[in-house]
Amino acid sequence: MSPFLIAPSILAADFARLGEDTDRVIKAGADMIHFDVMDHHYVPNLTFGSMVCKALREYGITAPIDTHLMTTPVDDLIINFAKAGSTYISIHPEATHHVDRSLELIHSCGCRAGIVLNPATPVEWLTYTIDKVDMILVMSVNPGFGGQKLIPSTFAKIKAIREIIDSSGRDIRLEVDGGITEDNIGSLAKAGADTFVSGSAVFHSKDCVATINKMRMEIDKAIKSL
Ligand code: DX5
Ligand code: ZN
Repeated sequence: MSPFLIAPSILAADFARLGEDTDRVIKAGADMIHFDVMDHHYVPNLTFGSMVCKALREYGITAPIDTHLMTTPVDDLIINFAKAGSTYISIHPEATHHVDRSLELIHSCGCRAGIVLNPATPVEWLTYTIDKVDMILVMSVNPGFGGQKLIPSTFAKIKAIREIIDSSGRDIRLEVDGGITEDNIGSLAKAGADTFVSGSAVFHSKDCVATINKMRMEIDKAIKSL
């Protein structure tokens, strides 16, 4: 996999033409599709379930699908989303009673496991989970809605987690999610993120190819300046 991945969130897609709109951002250069599952219980919004993930696979979407479960509980949905074709499945530790068991379940279903830290969730959650995760997803907004502004404390948190990942010696992606634009993606890469979820900025762009290219240029520029 390339060192930096752009993962548009279909939360900002045209739901009436979901297959076509998802294909459009992949063809425009996106690496992975971010799939925001909300249950109107863990978060105050309701989106889509595993049937929609399966439908995207059947439509012909072959890019990795990065499923972000904002639901409680999570275990049944892990099984359903794995069967539906997810590549990564990420869970919020507050949303399951047995975090270790849920992470193991993701692996036993053949998917890569992610842990998601909300803006106020401490990095200490990683102490006993780092050996079982393939991705750490840092929420740069409170989960539940697209189109919010990035919370500035995200930068310090990404830096801290980058150090934790590097000293673990493990191959773990550091993903950031919420409020990401062409203007802040470079600083996020500089802080240590390597995977970028962007909903509104990509799907609502008048020129999606130009937006994704600009995002990649900003990442390159920021990394070269290190
Ligand atoms: C928020 C979601 C995000 C978010 C991204 O709960 O996890 O994926 O919607 O969308 P934008 O880029 O619009 O903030
Ligand atoms: Zn998300």
